[in-house]
Amino acid sequence: MLKTHTCGELRLEHAGQQVTLAGWVHRWRDQGGLVFLDLRDRWGITQVTIAQESSPDVHALARDVRNEWVIQVSGTVEQRPDGMANPDLPTGEIEVRANNLVVLNRAKTPPFYINKEEKIDEALRMRYRYLDLRRPSMQYNLVLRHNVVRFIRNFLSDHGFVEIETPILFKTTPEGARDYLVPSRLHPGKFFALPQSPQQLKQLLMVAGYERYFQIARCFRDEDQRGDRQPEFTQLDLEMSFVTREDVMGLIEEMMTCIVEQVSDRELVTKPFPRLTHHEALLRYGTDKPDLRYGLEIEDVSDLVAGSSFRVFTETVAAGNPVRAICVPGVGDYSRKQIGELEEIAKAAGAKGLATIAIEAGGEVRSSIAKFFTPEQLQALVSRMKAGPGDLILFAADSAPVVAAVLDALRREMAGRLGLADPNQIAFCWIIDFPLFEWNEDEQRWDPSHHLFTAPMWEDVPLLDTEPGKARGQQYDLACNGYEVAGGSIRIHDRAIQEKIFGLIGLDVEDAKQRFGHMLEAFEFGTPPHGGIAPGIDRLVMLLAGEPNIREVIAFPKTQQAADLMAGAPSEADAHQLEELHIRVVRPENGK
Ligand code: AMO
Ligand code: AMP
Repeated sequence: MLKTHTCGELRLEHAGQQVTLAGWVHRWRDQGGLVFLDLRDRWGITQVTIAQESSPDVHALARDVRNEWVIQVSGTVEQRPDGMANPDLPTGEIEVRANNLVVLNRAKTPPFYINKEEKIDEALRMRYRYLDLRRPSMQYNLVLRHNVVRFIRNFLSDHGFVEIETPILFKTTPEGARDYLVPSRLHPGKFFALPQSPQQLKQLLMVAGYERYFQIARCFRDEDQRGDRQPEFTQLDLEMSFVTREDVMGLIEEMMTCIVEQVSDRELVTKPFPRLTHHEALLRYGTDKPDLRYGLEIEDVSDLVAGSSFRVFTETVAAGNPVRAICVPGVGDYSRKQIGELEEIAKAAGAKGLATIAIEAGGEVRSSIAKFFTPEQLQALVSRMKAGPGDLILFAADSAPVVAAVLDALRREMAGRLGLADPNQIAFCWIIDFPLFEWNEDEQRWDPSHHLFTAPMWEDVPLLDTEPGKARGQQYDLACNGYEVAGGSIRIHDRAIQEKIFGLIGLDVEDAKQRFGHMLEAFEFGTPPHGGIAPGIDRLVMLLAGEPNIREVIAFPKTQQAADLMAGAPSEADAHQLEELHIRVVRPENGK
């Protein structure tokens, strides 16, 4: 090694030792007769001093050194002089007095500071990602990610799982997004699809008798990007045979509990993980991925407002739709303008308006709709909402899905404004009993709400023939701090039910055979009952790291426009390559 110790390692007990360190110059200060260098490597920072008096040649060289140069220094470890210790640095009690310095590599001036945690334009960070990744905060994130994945590998291996790789060049494995296609040179006009997940392959591994499979699997989905979505991302993909959903959920709950408590610095606040039915989650939180770190629960007030004279509410209830509300503490003095802002947020989520009741500090009610209620009706509303002085009640009256979307948006907005979510806390919950299908109004058919291999609740199988919309799926999602971190289900292992599902989602037999013939065929060769789940590694690590988006925990992510700014991908292919692939590019009119 070109170093005897790391830059995070030396302590007072090493004083007097002769050491060699190597790394990057984090900071330097030239104080005339003395040059100070903060030397950084992956493990930390050590202060190095070079005195003109004791080593004039080395001192002259050190004066030329600049930030981010790669150097090697040798010298003795010394206790820092009185009052010079730095309590913020683990190595802060010592310094290395160097008597030798070798410049291993010079560096141009970086486009942003590596030694300061400050806001940097993200495009610049992406363009120079290798420099961005040098920053200690990014190194922390990637090491955390490594520790999480290492923990998972050990945990699952100890529980009898086998890690098996599955192909990237495959056939469409739909999860509801667009496929990335790869043209075949040897089969003109034909394409591989990159898997949106290893779903079919892991089920085939169950047919193959492996019983417990896992993989740290790369998945590819061509869909609109968001902070929690990337075109390629990583799942912990797993599948088990001879299990019920309790077995899968139990295992994941134990694993996630250990990850938070043993691998991260966060506090797990939901033990055991609460379980909500899909229906209940939408009623209480307006979403199937609720943030349980705070309350602000939704209450139904349809019965209380039905007798008022506020037409918006009475007509909503008469049409069979709900009126629901949340009570926000401590903002009863919101001005008209502030309430106007909230109304815009509600409208962006689909609301037609935002009725409010403010309870002022003195207890008097301020509301544009109060006049439509008798004092008793108002009192009943206030007490249903458990509202007290200083609180603000926000109402939504619309179809149930719109009410849910509106109150979810307001709930998250208000929690953000009031700082109700403790960033140190991790709150998981299971969402179960999803409807098996969602009605697709445009196509006039049922869409699977998870994917087309998810089994119905066995007792709901007869509903497939009568009322498919009422059938529940054996699906379970794991939500955490407002994000969906895992989704899974018990699968259909019976060809007849699988074919029935294909029929309901509008896949005719020939189509289904073409796309999933291999699955249907495999199911006829002795398929064990099986099920599995796939936690998104990127989202999980994002939450454990306390980062606002998954790009912060992926070494080389794509931008929001699904591009790599560092390498310049995607890029054009040369004519020869295209010819070999039998591809002709038709450029859009606007030349983009
Ligand atoms: P699902 O589609 O719910 O299920 O995906 C599972 C988990 O993967 C993560 N995830 C993503 N992370 C980053 N970027 C994306 N574009 C993205 N899409 C999904 C989420 C999500 O919860 N085969 C099934 C699993 C199964 O049934 O076993 C599947 O892929 O955290
Ligand atoms: P209006 O009588 O239409 O002026 O509405 C009175 C109040 O009710 C206003 O604050 C509107 O923003 C609000 N409002 C209108 N429609 C709805 C709705 N569907 N849900 C909740 N509040 C509404």
